[in-house]
Amino acid sequence: MKVFVTRVIPEEGRKLMIEAGIEVEEWKEKRALSQEELIAYTRDSDALLSVSTRLDKDFLQASSHLKVIALHSVGYDNVDVEAATEVKIPIGNTPCVLSGATADVAFLLMLATSRKAFHMHKSIIKGEWDFFDPTSNLGIELRGKTIGVFGLGKIGLEMAKCCIGAFGMQVIYHNRNRNEAAEKELNASWVSFDELLEQSDVLTVHTALTPETEGKFDWSAFNKMKPGAIFINTARGAIHNEADLLRALVEKKIWGAGLDVTNPEPMHPDHPLLNMPNVSVLPHIGSATEETRAAMSVLAARNIIAGLKGERIPFVVNPDVYK
Ligand code: DGY
Repeated sequence: MKVFVTRVIPEEGRKLMIEAGIEVEEWKEKRALSQEELIAYTRDSDALLSVSTRLDKDFLQASSHLKVIALHSVGYDNVDVEAATEVKIPIGNTPCVLSGATADVAFLLMLATSRKAFHMHKSIIKGEWDFFDPTSNLGIELRGKTIGVFGLGKIGLEMAKCCIGAFGMQVIYHNRNRNEAAEKELNASWVSFDELLEQSDVLTVHTALTPETEGKFDWSAFNKMKPGAIFINTARGAIHNEADLLRALVEKKIWGAGLDVTNPEPMHPDHPLLNMPNVSVLPHIGSATEETRAAMSVLAARNIIAGLKGERIPFVVNPDVYK
């Protein structure tokens, strides 16, 4: 049995597959595979372990011999899951293990933005640390403020806990379905989407990218937010409209923004958001810790091993494939 892996992954996951008697072929070049290369490399494989690779209907139909596809991510918006189910390929993801690390990045962006930390660092490098002016370089404080969570699932819960623990923030959230366990644990209140926009001092996005959430934070949404609010997105760049976000910041409809995800990725180095004092941008590093990436590789390997044994994979995103 052979698995093709679209990037080099942490040793932990690779080792597990090799110990299970699986031949592991990794794509070692530091560039993304083309669709033709992906189809060609997967042709003589029994499984695919996919890292940051778009798997569309054409690819899935051309690769229907695959017994399993394991993603090295919790998000699966870059896979045509319906097409995979049609050709009977189970798709696996890596839930839970990256919640803490991703929430840490949301918290980091919130704090860095509130004190303009990235901008201050750049200004020292530019030789701009000169005389002390008590009225400049002012940030805003977070103590006692309201954190609004859009998508209170596992990552949102971790972020809310950090905000309560560090700053005693009040938690409000908007989900399609109420999260009553989290409401009890955090003393959080469910609010409508408009109330979330109107009441949050910091609004943090932790939802999946779906047709319903795509472009959800647009000009009309930013217009309803407080002028002192900070917008944080560590989920997917396509959930916000980047031109509308820029305009909202320029026109001071909101105070600041922290992004670990942009649209497109990578963000162009000349993008105006990168030069705004109240904006902090990171290159999609939410899950990028040694511990979390190792744990993700292990879950992906477990999906591959089960799929190749003909067993139900442990972290399946399209359970209908087993009907
Ligand atoms: C995920 O797992 O979905 C993270 O965004 C990393 O891509």
